[in-house]
Amino acid sequence: MRLHLPVLVCLVAALSSAAIPSPRDLWTKLILTQQWPNTFCAMEHCHPNFTYWTLHGLWPDKGNHCNSSWHFNSSEIEDLLPDMRKSWPDLLNPSSVQFWKYEWSKHGTCAAEAASLNSQHKYFSKALELYHKVDLNSILLKLNIIPSSDKYYNFSEIEEGLERFYGVKVKIQCVHPSKNSEPQILGQIEICFDAEFTLHDCGKHFSIDTFSRGLGDHPLGVNNPSGLSVCAHDIPVYYPPTP
Ligand SMILES: *[C@@H]1O[C@H](CO)[C@@H](O)[C@H](O)[C@H]1NC(C)=O
Ligand SMILES: *[C@@H]1O[C@H](CO)[C@@H](O)[C@H](O)[C@H]1NC(C)=O
Ligand SMILES: *[C@@H]1O[C@H](CO)[C@@H](O)[C@H](O)[C@H]1NC(C)=O
Ligand SMILES: *[C@@H]1O[C@H](CO)[C@@H](O)[C@H](O)[C@H]1NC(C)=O
Repeated sequence: MRLHLPVLVCLVAALSSAAIPSPRDLWTKLILTQQWPNTFCAMEHCHPNFTYWTLHGLWPDKGNHCNSSWHFNSSEIEDLLPDMRKSWPDLLNPSSVQFWKYEWSKHGTCAAEAASLNSQHKYFSKALELYHKVDLNSILLKLNIIPSSDKYYNFSEIEEGLERFYGVKVKIQCVHPSKNSEPQILGQIEICFDAEFTLHDCGKHFSIDTFSRGLGDHPLGVNNPSGLSVCAHDIPVYYPPTP
């Protein structure tokens, strides 16, 4: 949604009694976050049976918990549920809707401040659409970056490969080793979009904001102090295969 500033100012003035977000509160970018289930489950002690990257969330770059009275209602996304279970599973409890409820409440209600995402159906279907569009699983395969128990990757190769493919900067997060001799473990990949859903650089300006939203964003996630952060360039990367 692009409104010229004077229009927006008039709108805000006209509706000043309503809780319209001021222009600087509206988000301008979205972060599509995907997680590697094996790494997540190693941290959170679950049993992964997903052999592909799954959705973690679609996060606007501004705002958290924007409308506490807008409750998650799975009936509104009934038609999306088969794909939700496959592409956006709750790794801790695959039969629960808690993860989607949490993501809606924390991020979806903020994304919904834009007309393009102003319903639960619009929000969840857009996240699924972008997830399928970026098709991270096949891109990694094409780049010959495959989960392996007997090979470590050079982080620059992963980063440069993805950036070459998408044509924008992505953000890749790892679990950092506790000892110098150990590799870092590939955990999460963020791909960013502008408000028109066009791929956009994941800029440094909002990496600080998302830093604390690693796997700890999960509703039941243990707040692991050695959790995820941007991978280091000089440490080999372990991409753990399904046990
Ligand atoms: C994972 O395991 C659960 C419970 O055993 C099962 O319901 C689900 O279909 C499995 N998912 C996949 C992708 O195999
Ligand atoms: C919050 O959500 C409720 C329920 O959908 C809606 O009626 C209300 O207008 C929303 N409030 C704001 C400030 O958007
Ligand atoms: C959930 O959504 C359905 C379909 O839109 C609606 O019929 C139902 O009343 C909603 N439930 C609640 C608790 O809002
Ligand atoms: C990793 O790859 C980059 C080029 O993509 C290369 O410059 C660098 O030397 C490599 N590092 C290691 C440790 O192999």
